[in-house]
Amino acid sequence: MLTMERFAYCNQLIEEFEKVIEKPIKQTSQQYFTGVDLGTSCIVLSVLNDQKEPVAGAYRYASVVKDGMIVDYLGAIQIVKELKDQLEEKLGVELLYCAAALPPGTATLDSGVIRHVVEGAGFELTALLDEPTAANAVLKIENGAIVDIGGGTTGITILENGQVVHVVDEATGGTHFSLVVAGSYHISFEEADVFKRDEQNHQELLPVLTPVIEKVASIVNQHVQSFDVKEIYLVGGTCCLTGIEKVIEKQTKIPTFKPDNPMFVTPLGIALNCQDEIL
Ligand SMILES: Nc1ncnc2c1ncn2[C@@H]1O[C@H](COP(=O)(O)OP(=O)(O)OP(=O)(O)O)[C@@H](O)[C@H]1O
Ligand SMILES: [Mg+2]
Repeated sequence: MLTMERFAYCNQLIEEFEKVIEKPIKQTSQQYFTGVDLGTSCIVLSVLNDQKEPVAGAYRYASVVKDGMIVDYLGAIQIVKELKDQLEEKLGVELLYCAAALPPGTATLDSGVIRHVVEGAGFELTALLDEPTAANAVLKIENGAIVDIGGGTTGITILENGQVVHVVDEATGGTHFSLVVAGSYHISFEEADVFKRDEQNHQELLPVLTPVIEKVASIVNQHVQSFDVKEIYLVGGTCCLTGIEKVIEKQTKIPTFKPDNPMFVTPLGIALNCQDEIL
């Protein structure tokens, strides 16, 4: 299967989402569904209409979450509220219902906190799912591994016949990539993170970042070993790095694929799971 065909639905959804981040679609809709992705390094709100089509979106880089857990509770509420206000202003409607997600393994610890954050920002929580389930609402894969390389962590989920058979969240992610860039270029972490996100620098950065990508790949290898994984699907902001899929494929010897913009897969999957009944 061609990569283009594989990601037909995903890429189209993301392309629409990228457009409405720039230019929201003001229209009549019976209901709006919002996804709130509270990541370690980025908070993303995605809004769908009653046809579950993207109409608006906003995101902010922030560090209110560490290793998958919310550490700055009030900061998180504040950012979600600000993004919600911005989107309501642009759409001319009130956003009521939202869904949120948790990294695998943190559910019992953090689900109350997530609820308080979204409710504190003025949302009603209608669904709370785990991140890989959210991502797979967009990817729609039956067999293989979803590898979510975010800011703080890498989540690995193995699916067999549509069922999750293994999940793990390991503490290596984009933050470590930025630390490597900061060290090599003698710049601050913040400067390194901005430099790293610029696609024009990716070709130059790939050799610098290859050792840390190989580290992530070795973590992936440990987890896929006992399963029959024939395909790896990359999501998460760090996978925006041009060429990362080739390094991971080489290390794991498993064909590796990524959609056009891996950063928005999970946020859109969260919104797709939003309901119009309070949880
Ligand atoms: N274009 C890009 N190129 C390279 N890296 C990028 C790009 N865009 C974002 N990133 C990196 O992706 C990371 C954020 O990704 P993402 O939003 O998936 O993480 P998160 O959900 O906040 O974190 P986590 O899943 O660990 O909680 C950051 O380290 C950021 O620097
Ligand atoms: Mg994430």
